[in-house]
Amino acid sequence: MSLPRLLQLHQESPAAIRAELLQNLQTPQAHVSPKYLYDALGSRLFEAITELPEYYPTRTEAAIFSACLPEMTRHLPHDATLIDLGAGNCAKAERLFEALAPRRYVAVDISVDFLRAALARLQREHPRIDMLGLGTDFSSGLALPPEAGRAEDAARLLFYPGSSIGNFMPHAALTFLRSVHAACGSAPGSGLLIGVDLVKDAVELQAAYDDALGVTAAFNKNLLLHVNRLAGTDFRVADWQHVALYDTEHHRIEMHLEAVRAARVSWPEGARTFAAGERIHTENSYKWTPAGFTKLLQDAGFRSATVWTDPAARFAVVWAQA
Ligand code: AVI
Repeated sequence: MSLPRLLQLHQESPAAIRAELLQNLQTPQAHVSPKYLYDALGSRLFEAITELPEYYPTRTEAAIFSACLPEMTRHLPHDATLIDLGAGNCAKAERLFEALAPRRYVAVDISVDFLRAALARLQREHPRIDMLGLGTDFSSGLALPPEAGRAEDAARLLFYPGSSIGNFMPHAALTFLRSVHAACGSAPGSGLLIGVDLVKDAVELQAAYDDALGVTAAFNKNLLLHVNRLAGTDFRVADWQHVALYDTEHHRIEMHLEAVRAARVSWPEGARTFAAGERIHTENSYKWTPAGFTKLLQDAGFRSATVWTDPAARFAVVWAQA
């Protein structure tokens, strides 16, 4: 039995991460990239979020796959290279293995360390699939190394579930999708299977991002502890509260951390005082209409889009042919 290969591409240096964080904390509208929501605790809190009664995206997407997989498999390439973006525990892609029998599985995440254990288990259970774990930050564009296989040898099925595309600004989503379209390559049948959260009632959205148990609040506030470790700051969690707002004009949930009192934050070479009520922006989560998202895919170069939704049209899974 072959072992999964693991490859870590360029990782940002601790000094570069620190410099970027401190710069963004000192702008008039302070902000921190949502990628810093995911340290070890943040990833576990996100998993807990997916089980909350208010957070419908994960279970709705899973229900769409359960209901529509037989029809999806008539559109999707078989014997393909399945490239899983943000693979984590690889569980979502594994559900496609039986129906699609991919020849190769490329699990991509920011660090191969997140993939090691899951891929070792998967390789034992599916010894005939050639597996590669790829550590890379693809958020500013996807570029696949030669180890992912030659694009002309097999169709490529790019897989990006979970509505993480919503965490990109629309212009950045377009740039990212263009790079995904390029990564699909030239073999017939290639394309992108992607999960997208849809525009809906503001009350339902608000509850999904500000749950009664306070798990999303903990997820958001934990970012401060992560930043303390990365940037040498001394944020005190008790000085901050979670704020989630739905912007109906831009169809996005905005997450912020708001100072509940004047809060001084210092680091070895500097300090900033936040007035009570001042906010740090931590995440956008855009919601799309099926028509708006289909247009975005077209603008990114995809030829056609097939859309599956749940009966209440809360969420969509879209197959975009390259
Ligand atoms: C990962 N991403 C799709 C989640 C979302 O819904 O935007 C992150 C999240 N933020 C708060 N709750 C969940």
